[in-house]
Amino acid sequence: MANVAVIGAQWGDEGKGKVVDWLASRADIVVRFQGGHNAGHTLVVGNQTYKLSLLPSGLVRGKLGIIGNGVVVDPEALLAEIARVRAQGLAVGPETLRIAENAPLILPLHAALDQAREAARGARRIGTTGRGIGPAYEDKVARRAIRLADLGEPETLSARLDELLLHHNTLLQGLGAEPFSKDVLLARLTELAPLLLPYAEPVWERLDEARRAGRRILFEGAQAVMLDVDHGTYPFVTSSNTVAATAAAGAGVGPAAVGTVLGIAKAYCTRVGSGPFPTELHDETGRLLGERGHEFGTVTGRPRRCGWFDAALVRQAVKVAGIQGLALTKLDVLDGLPELRVGVGYRIGGESFRHLPAAPGAQAAAVPVYETLAGWQGSTRGARSWAELPAAAVKYVRRIEELVEAPVILLSTSPERDDTILMRDPFEG
Ligand code: GDP
Ligand code: IMO
Ligand code: MG
Repeated sequence: MANVAVIGAQWGDEGKGKVVDWLASRADIVVRFQGGHNAGHTLVVGNQTYKLSLLPSGLVRGKLGIIGNGVVVDPEALLAEIARVRAQGLAVGPETLRIAENAPLILPLHAALDQAREAARGARRIGTTGRGIGPAYEDKVARRAIRLADLGEPETLSARLDELLLHHNTLLQGLGAEPFSKDVLLARLTELAPLLLPYAEPVWERLDEARRAGRRILFEGAQAVMLDVDHGTYPFVTSSNTVAATAAAGAGVGPAAVGTVLGIAKAYCTRVGSGPFPTELHDETGRLLGERGHEFGTVTGRPRRCGWFDAALVRQAVKVAGIQGLALTKLDVLDGLPELRVGVGYRIGGESFRHLPAAPGAQAAAVPVYETLAGWQGSTRGARSWAELPAAAVKYVRRIEELVEAPVILLSTSPERDDTILMRDPFEG
């Protein structure tokens, strides 16, 4: 019996939420292990649309959701999201959602610093979601974060706030932003404590028990490999490791417990925010992909940049994250395009590369080398079996498998939950 980790193989928004929701029917527990409410996952179930940022997508199936220690938790965002999905009829409470007691918290000062820094960067801005994700991870590594369990110890909380404010207020004032008052923060955290502490527990213990009882665990990644702080297009990345190996450290299980690694990729490619994107299209096709794919950020509403599928990039993601199978989403968006291009490598300063090198100058200068494939006239939208796919669509998928060196084991053909074709069950290993 295998567990499964689902991660993004491009720059995010590949449709992880849809795939996790779909796979959750086969799982018992769904665990978030990194990122925070920078993530935005849209799930379409019949006439209901759920937009989740921090809550594990399995909650929509009534499965136990766990927020692991690797996630940075904004208490206000969490409570607002819980209220929002409860209003849509989902049962979310301490019986259905558990949060690692050692998860670090995002405070208002983190978002303020994130935004002040982005403003100071001007044209060189990263294009963050402005939600304080980077500063919160910095505080965790700097050993001054407030963690969920600290809310139960007033003295710890007070001392931690002193240390945090000394650091942050100095920085904020240096950037021309307003400093924060300890009294105001302390009063709010004291109010929040009884609302949050009922969710807190050593989730590693529950996961260990679940594993020993043969329960199936689905690890839900946020962001994607090309936004990974080590393996992505640094510095235009998020502040956590997004690769599947993080599922172990970010939930408190051993590496063997992570199970099968399923990478999610769009049949084309998008990116939100700044940074290199070799196969980006600035033409009518790019505009068309954005329009047909409804490519607007779930979190910030920003239009997503669109381009051709970059097989060299996804191959790189397959290797560094140990992706064993690929779920290819949004195939339907390519319906009717006369021909399709797929990036197979790069030319940089007269040299050929099969991968995207780490140096930012080389990344910015990378010109994709394309292979051209035939498009298809028929529709793939809503297809639920291979047999329904036009021959050229099957060829496109098969060529992608070869180029990225991983099998496509799942195809998604619309936003709707059940418009999904499963070729191989990842829980079967
Ligand atoms: P995530 O961040 O990886 O969970 O992805 P998002 O939810 O941010 O973005 C993916 C978007 O594509 C959502 O609006 C989904 O409803 C939609 N979507 C997912 N799969 C498909 C698909 O196969 N076809 C189409 N047309 N839309 C899809
Ligand atoms: P999901 O889980 C797409 C991007 C931001 C920015 C960079 C850093 O929905 O796929 P951050 O706020 O994390 O410091 O921003 O990362 N980014 C995402 N892009 N999907 C996401 O999540 C993202 N989360 C962060 O746009 O470029
Ligand atoms: Mg998203």
